[in-house]
Amino acid sequence: MKTKIINAPDLHKAASRQKGETLFKSASILHKQESQSLLNGKKYYIRTYGCQANVRDEETMRGLLEDIGMWQIDKPEEADVIIINTCAVRENAEDKVYGEVGNLKILRKKNKKLVLAICGCMVEQPEILERLMKTFPEINLFFGTHEIDQLYDLLYQTLTSEERIVSIESKAGEVIEGLPSARNNHYKAYVDIIYGCNKFCTYCIVPYTRGKERSRHFSDIIKECQNLIDMGYQEITLLGQNVNAYGKDLDEGKDFADLLEAVAKLGIPRLRFTTSHPWDFSSKMIDIIAKYPNICKFIHLPVQSGNDEILKIMGRRYTREQYLNLVKEMRAKIPGLSLSTDIIVGFPNETEEQFNDTVSLVDIVKYEAAYTFIYSPRKGTPAARMEDNVSYDEKVRRFKILVQHLEKNIEKHSESLVGKVVDILVDGPSKTDPNMLSGYTDENKLVHFPGDSSLIGTITKVKIISSHTYSMMGELYRG
Ligand code: 5AD
Ligand code: SF4
Repeated sequence: MKTKIINAPDLHKAASRQKGETLFKSASILHKQESQSLLNGKKYYIRTYGCQANVRDEETMRGLLEDIGMWQIDKPEEADVIIINTCAVRENAEDKVYGEVGNLKILRKKNKKLVLAICGCMVEQPEILERLMKTFPEINLFFGTHEIDQLYDLLYQTLTSEERIVSIESKAGEVIEGLPSARNNHYKAYVDIIYGCNKFCTYCIVPYTRGKERSRHFSDIIKECQNLIDMGYQEITLLGQNVNAYGKDLDEGKDFADLLEAVAKLGIPRLRFTTSHPWDFSSKMIDIIAKYPNICKFIHLPVQSGNDEILKIMGRRYTREQYLNLVKEMRAKIPGLSLSTDIIVGFPNETEEQFNDTVSLVDIVKYEAAYTFIYSPRKGTPAARMEDNVSYDEKVRRFKILVQHLEKNIEKHSESLVGKVVDILVDGPSKTDPNMLSGYTDENKLVHFPGDSSLIGTITKVKIISSHTYSMMGELYRG
């Protein structure tokens, strides 16, 4: 099969991104009618890996496909279009994609008209794209994180030519408004507020795959949130690789604290946001979180390491002391605050002493939740070019020690909730026991309890009766 390359990714171009104004565009409808006549009534299967940005992109792609009359199914064997939306942040996320495509490729042999598409962050890396193209000649469409709005045109081209289509441009990025969206949930919604990342932490591939920081207009975000409230949504999560940077690239005189306050004032019962870089978490933001009862008292504040030298080599822009002072201010001003974090263990050449600094920071902060990762070299990032004298076994050993320290506190915190009455936004039947319901507290703790399915999508009072490390059991509170 011949390949038609419309655009190819280039990490240098992604890194030396062009300065200048963000281009605000409305959705492209090129070849919408043509793809509708080819795909109306047909079925699609979509599988998303990775972060909330990818989940939100999936909702946009589903919106586009459903707008031309396609149906979502969960059996890839019966699909006319298969889309695998990939993540590049660590190697194990990529390995899963190789496994999944390995299982799906046979379907293309059986159905020559099938569109087998790979999109998302993996294909933004030139070497990975080349490997995918070589390993899987069955994949007939590759597109990047900046091409989602061109989905109709890309599907049309794939279905009407004998060539495989590659469209991945490493551009700084645009803001596209007016795309349709089929949301995964009817009471909890993600709302993008800022795309991309400018931080270039030395281990991270995201600034290369998702382009520069570019904020949506304040008024567009408020309009979207108001619509969600009008539809009965109970919870909104404002999304960005670093939400704190919101507005800095615009000339609207509004920052993230202003946006948070404006959305809180709209009256959504629960307001969350993620992710926040500690470097630009302002006191003004802390004050707004403390002031509005509907802003959840839960902050995800990735620390990555507790050692100053490692933080410096990671390019994190804060010291251990600055991070701890920020935590102190948050805990003092926001009663009942729950803090979570991301930590990378085994960064190149991390010494035992440096690792112990991370352990001691964890013991001081006493996180209520945490995500821990073993460092995974990402080709094209500065850290991946460093020599590393720490063996993988040693990294695993440190990882286990760190998790023990984190879990001790998480367990204690869960135990402290036993006997308390908490508000739960009920998600649906529990994944572990379909006879139970489950949902999350304001501070993001998972609770299972017996109850009627009519409670799904409501905020309900539940009394906690017992706790495990990561979840709790409760019963309906009848006051
Ligand atoms: N290796 C391990 N973990 C990583 N993360 C990002 N890049 C890497 C990498 N190369 C983690 C960071 C980040 C989270 C989303 O993923 O902790 O906060
Ligand atoms: Fe990656 Fe750092 Fe940007 Fe987070 S802030 S997406 S870790 S570069």
